[in-house]
Amino acid sequence: MTDLHEAIRAWWDRDAETYDDARSHAISDPVEAAAWRRALGDALPEPPARVLDVGAGTGALSLLAAELGHRVTALDLSERMLALAARKAAERALELELVHGRAEEPPPGPFDAVMERHVLWTLPDPEGALRAWREVTAPGGRLVLFEGSWGGDGLLRRARSLAAEGLRGLLRVPDEHHAPYPEEVLPHLPLARRSSPEPMIEAVYRAGWRGVRLKRLRDVEWAQIRHSGPVLGWLEHHPRYAIVAER
Ligand SMILES: C[S@@+](CC[C@H](N)C(=O)[O-])C[C@H]1O[C@@H](n2cnc3c(N)ncnc32)[C@H](O)[C@@H]1O
Repeated sequence: MTDLHEAIRAWWDRDAETYDDARSHAISDPVEAAAWRRALGDALPEPPARVLDVGAGTGALSLLAAELGHRVTALDLSERMLALAARKAAERALELELVHGRAEEPPPGPFDAVMERHVLWTLPDPEGALRAWREVTAPGGRLVLFEGSWGGDGLLRRARSLAAEGLRGLLRVPDEHHAPYPEEVLPHLPLARRSSPEPMIEAVYRAGWRGVRLKRLRDVEWAQIRHSGPVLGWLEHHPRYAIVAER
């Protein structure tokens, strides 16, 4: 393919138009927001810390971290995503430093924590990015990955996805994204569609981080099932977790 990053950037620029329509993307449900505040409080250093949010998108987690008293730099490849983050920051009178650029080339920092939510899977070189994030982290700083396991090719997994798709149609609940992820891009993404946190944890260690800890985010899962309703919530339920590591 001609330019992988360009294809990825174009897809997310387009997705920015409807990204925040999904409650879990925008974290607009107050119960889910409360669960994320707790998850951030558990994973990040004491505020005020210098936090880099990589692939910050429309800023849902950046803004919650800023609200908790952190000094947040939001980095993203998509200018349209960042424009929405900027608008929301202004509406909430919160301060964010916005940086348009690639996850693999973060601003120099130093940061007390580098965090991301749902970004590693869409990087062509996740290990290289994890190494670059470590370089801009201050001694004693940490890595915080908010992730989930969406993948798997099992029959049950596929049946659940199809049933969820059918139910969304029936209930007229729009899909969470404007289009499926480009099929030609997926084979270039080593961590896409994984059903276990194991490859991610291995990549974190290979990138030089130490003392990796995993914590399941059951409160976030519960909040999401609560606002999706029991049937769609169950069909679309995936394990969510925080992976935290030390520099
Ligand atoms: C699933 S969204 C997650 C957004 C945000 N972290 C959140 O939790 O809502 C993935 C984000 O990663 C960004 N992204 C994808 N590839 C990137 C790259 N190489 N460098 C920086 N950002 C990237 C996209 O533009 C998009 O905003």
